[in-house]
Amino acid sequence: MAILKIARMGHPVLARRADPVPDPASSAIRRLVADMVETMIDANGAGLAAPQVHVALRVVVFQAPADRADEGLAETERFDQTAPLTVLINPEIEIIGGDTEGGWEGCLSVPGMRGFVERPAHICYRGVDHEGRLVERTAKGFHARVVQHEFDHLNGILYPQRMSDLKKFIFESEAHHWVKANE
Ligand code: NI
Repeated sequence: MAILKIARMGHPVLARRADPVPDPASSAIRRLVADMVETMIDANGAGLAAPQVHVALRVVVFQAPADRADEGLAETERFDQTAPLTVLINPEIEIIGGDTEGGWEGCLSVPGMRGFVERPAHICYRGVDHEGRLVERTAKGFHARVVQHEFDHLNGILYPQRMSDLKKFIFESEAHHWVKANE
């Protein structure tokens, strides 16, 4: 396994559409996935898409731990908001209903920054993992957000391109000042 170099905003690999993976269970993909997981954990990210490590293929890894879910939810609702470490290859997303939700995002390819992004609140996604098994889930909250963020990477879209108010594009290190001033 290896920790891979992360491409930053401006590198063309982040702006192109990534290619489908013909054989998700191949040894090359297995190796890529192992390196992506190691890189994501090392960088303390919630998700990572293959283009972020200079590989233009439709592969993402992510997790939505329980401590990122909204508090005070019923257990069934909470289930939709959390996901274990997940590998998703050739994913598809379907939006459920018309509700949107705003939330702060960061990206390992846009280091040090945070931005407020409005996205569909409820989605269903499906793909396969690196053993060729079908992965199909509904997602809400942070879980829905991280999946859409990683999916966007596969289509050459970075979260600042999803923002409607650039006043809410801030340095993470200034966030505590921003919060105080906007309470
Ligand atoms: Ni990202």
